Amino acid sequence: MTTMRAFTAGHGDTGYTRGVVQFPIDQLGDGEVLVRVHHSGINYKDGLATTEQGRVARLDPIVPGIDLAGDVVESTDPAVPVGAMVIAHGYDLGVAHHGGYGEFARVRAEWVVPMPAGLDTRTAMLVGTAGYTAVLSVAALEGAGLVPGAGPVLVTGATGGVGSMAVGMLAARGHEVVASTGKPAESDWLRRLGASDVIDRSETAAESARPLERERWAGAVDCVGGATLSHILRTLRYGASVAASGLTGGTGLDATVLPFILRGVNLLGIDSVQTPIEVRRAMWQRIGSDLKPTWLDSIDATVIGLDALPAELDRILAGGMTGRVLVDPRT
Ligand SMILES: NC(=O)c1ccc[n+]([C@@H]2O[C@H](COP(=O)([O-])OP(=O)(O)OC[C@H]3O[C@@H](n4cnc5c(N)ncnc54)[C@H](OP(=O)(O)O)[C@@H]3O)[C@@H](O)[C@H]2O)c1
Repeated sequence: MTTMRAFTAGHGDTGYTRGVVQFPIDQLGDGEVLVRVHHSGINYKDGLATTEQGRVARLDPIVPGIDLAGDVVESTDPAVPVGAMVIAHGYDLGVAHHGGYGEFARVRAEWVVPMPAGLDTRTAMLVGTAGYTAVLSVAALEGAGLVPGAGPVLVTGATGGVGSMAVGMLAARGHEVVASTGKPAESDWLRRLGASDVIDRSETAAESARPLERERWAGAVDCVGGATLSHILRTLRYGASVAASGLTGGTGLDATVLPFILRGVNLLGIDSVQTPIEVRRAMWQRIGSDLKPTWLDSIDATVIGLDALPAELDRILAGGMTGRVLVDPRT
């Protein structure tokens, strides 16, 4: 087989197009490992990588898909044997290197995470980049001293991929979770995931001229940024931390130094893309064991084929995604 079905986005003879094409396997890029993709996820960044204005993709056209899981069908690295089930996400994948929205992906051996015991390709991609980012966020908060019983932990953008995984993960670890969402209709679902309270997005995105407001949160996972992150900094309790990973609400940050120097709060930056591979493999082992998302069955998960991608990519860019949508490029 010399070509495969793949979803591509980029400039062609008729301008910028997205759609399913026959793609030459020998043009997948460098890498020791050829993976047959069983599942890939849909992330906000995938939405950005498939629009002309997104300024995320550095290949044109690109096979997007920033995360994938599947089986190894070719390998020149003995550490990654043929037949192994693997996960890959981040680094250049789906951005500067063809990603998971094709039947096959060629990846570097040093990007490969062995599938942890207890996970399969579907559950691994249900977790995906979003869940991995949530795990990094929760680990950062706990590393900075957050313990169950400390008080309410705010999760913003709670119905999104990172947010919903953070809600479930924090609740499973015994934290009191307050979910902030712009989708009140999803309140019951957020409570089923483990939120003890659900508040409206307008409350956590409210602007204020005051540099400090009433201390509320023992910790926060912020997937939104902008005015929301400013609000969190003004309302964190003394010594508390926010793990900041997202920008759906904007990249700007209007803040003063007062929360830092008067309340000793911490702004913890979360990056899932360039985590060193040893850290990443160890974190995935934890996702398969002590951090295993036992509530995954409560996540609304749909699996779509490549043809259905445009509608779902538009939905995530419009902030309309709830739960997780997986892509099975074999269908
Ligand atoms: N740092 C990293 O390594 C890393 C990794 C993964 C993702 N991210 C970033 O994290 C963010 C979330 O990613 P995701 O994949 O979870 O995306 P997602 O599924 O689209 O979730 C984002 C959520 O943010 C909320 N939202 C959307 N538009 C908003 C707006 N204008 N103002 C306030 N809230 C808004 C929505 O939740 P509600 O309706 O419930 O409010 C939405 O579901 C993105 O910015 C993404 O780029 C960063």
